[in-house]
Amino acid sequence: MKMKLRSLHLVPLLLVLACCGIISPASGAGGSWKFLQNVGVSGMHMQLLHNDRVILFDRTNFGRSNLSFPAGTPCRANPKDLALPQGDCTAHAVEYNVRDNTFRPLVHIVTDTWCSSGYVTPDGTLVQTGGWNDGYRKVRLMPACTGTDDATCDWSERLNDPDVLAADRWYATNQRLPDGTAIIVGGLGQATYEFYPKPTSAFGPGTFALPFLGQTNTLYPFVHLNIDGNLFIFANNRAVLFDYRTGQTVRTYPTLGNGEPRTNPEAGSSVLLPLKPDPTEAEVLVCGGAPVGANADAQRGVFDPALTTCGRIKITDPAAAWAVETMPSPRVMGDMITLPNGEVAILNGARDGVGGWEFAKTPADGPVIYRPGNAPGARFEAQNPAGSPRPRMYHSSALLLRDGRVLVGGSNPHQFYVFDGVQFPTELSVEAFSPDYLDAANDARRPKIAFPSSSSTGQQQARVKYGSSLTLLFGAKDLGPDVSVTMVAPSFTTHTFAQGQRLLFLQTQVDRPHGYLVNGKHKMPLPHGVFQATVQMPARPELAPPGYYMLFVVNGRIPSEGIWVHIS
Ligand SMILES: *[C@@H]1O[C@H](CO)[C@@H](O)[C@H](O)[C@H]1NC(C)=O
Repeated sequence: MKMKLRSLHLVPLLLVLACCGIISPASGAGGSWKFLQNVGVSGMHMQLLHNDRVILFDRTNFGRSNLSFPAGTPCRANPKDLALPQGDCTAHAVEYNVRDNTFRPLVHIVTDTWCSSGYVTPDGTLVQTGGWNDGYRKVRLMPACTGTDDATCDWSERLNDPDVLAADRWYATNQRLPDGTAIIVGGLGQATYEFYPKPTSAFGPGTFALPFLGQTNTLYPFVHLNIDGNLFIFANNRAVLFDYRTGQTVRTYPTLGNGEPRTNPEAGSSVLLPLKPDPTEAEVLVCGGAPVGANADAQRGVFDPALTTCGRIKITDPAAAWAVETMPSPRVMGDMITLPNGEVAILNGARDGVGGWEFAKTPADGPVIYRPGNAPGARFEAQNPAGSPRPRMYHSSALLLRDGRVLVGGSNPHQFYVFDGVQFPTELSVEAFSPDYLDAANDARRPKIAFPSSSSTGQQQARVKYGSSLTLLFGAKDLGPDVSVTMVAPSFTTHTFAQGQRLLFLQTQVDRPHGYLVNGKHKMPLPHGVFQATVQMPARPELAPPGYYMLFVVNGRIPSEGIWVHIS
């Protein structure tokens, strides 16, 4: 199904393409940092929704946050709250509006969301699963608010809601599946998985055994949906390909390294590397972590240097083997965020210690960019961004925004909110890392998508089917020979892992200037500097589970601002 283009509506769009740059932040060699807001809540968990708002939340059991409920809003009254059972009038979740750089408190979380997991449904609703204590088995929904409903648009949870999950899910990982439901994998003491939503799960409401986690580590496993529909699951230093439909381990991969653990608390990070158009191969990268014994050492106040190594493996290769690469600096508790151009930003975390309260003493160096397509040895580039970021230690997070920036939040390596007398005060700020592709020097090369609309109001967002083609119009002053289109699934990021994150390169044909825009019977010349791209959407949901994605035109390595595209 082709997106319908109406020529009449296009004329104004083509006119606005006269100039192609977008406003860029202050530039510096290696990108830049910008402080955005103090949102009053520490961003342990973050998710971008298709309304360009980020849902950021912490846990609820430590007492007051720094963000009060709006006047007149009843306090959160939860007799099971450990800190304030008599009532808590502060928010533990925030909706951050990216465009306006504003935020508002969200109030309808009742039970504890500590170290939980999440995913976004095909219709764009954030599903937050599990937590701790009275929140172990809870599920809370947060819709993509429209802007006109802000007075009432909030989380769904109410006191005495029944448990939904079949097992306690504290430190679990979620992955959206090809059928639009989600799998919830692991959690403390849980060598199991289950599905959500319960009533429509094709696999039943209960839990299913995943012995591999019991043999390794059940905490926040790195889970990636492979292109064959199976799950690649990594824990500590081992990985399997797992068929969740049958409960069978399809294959066991070689062990990475010499035993060094790389999942929580020795928390490295991991990404599924960008998929090529119509992919037959998939690769996974795991970076950082801590040496054997680091957790025991941290318990007695000794913070071992973090790992400097990454492992990269072609998970679709029958002879899959880990290739070990070395980062410019050691990192534990880092985040790995895929950028619109297929590069990977590695940022946040520490040079020593492990994940846990008070378990690190040295912040990691600045961001590192990993270029998967370069030759081994030429893939990492340490960034030296302008501006001074805050340390982002344990309980920090990061995610990609539609404008190509990386939003960073959180950092609270303490049991409570602590602002004085500690090396790493609780961070309530959100700030943005702008990779160097956003430098003003790249403005002439930056494409600007004119159609479909970049509007964040659902009505005008592009909707496409699997295997369909999407027609894009974009402007660019200085278009090189290497133009690509990518789509990125926004992640639920917490505890160093961007759950559900994936990036696909799409088959794209670009028509050069002096071409014609053909739409039914109408044929109109494209103005100079305007290009038409015909983009082939992924053929099957195993490549990209249904829902909202950010879609970018990339000129060389300079991405446009993205647009939201819904695929079903
Ligand atoms: C948060 O609130 C506490 C207690 O009122 C105050 O001491 C602290 O300065 C606030 N911190 C920030 C970063 O706003």
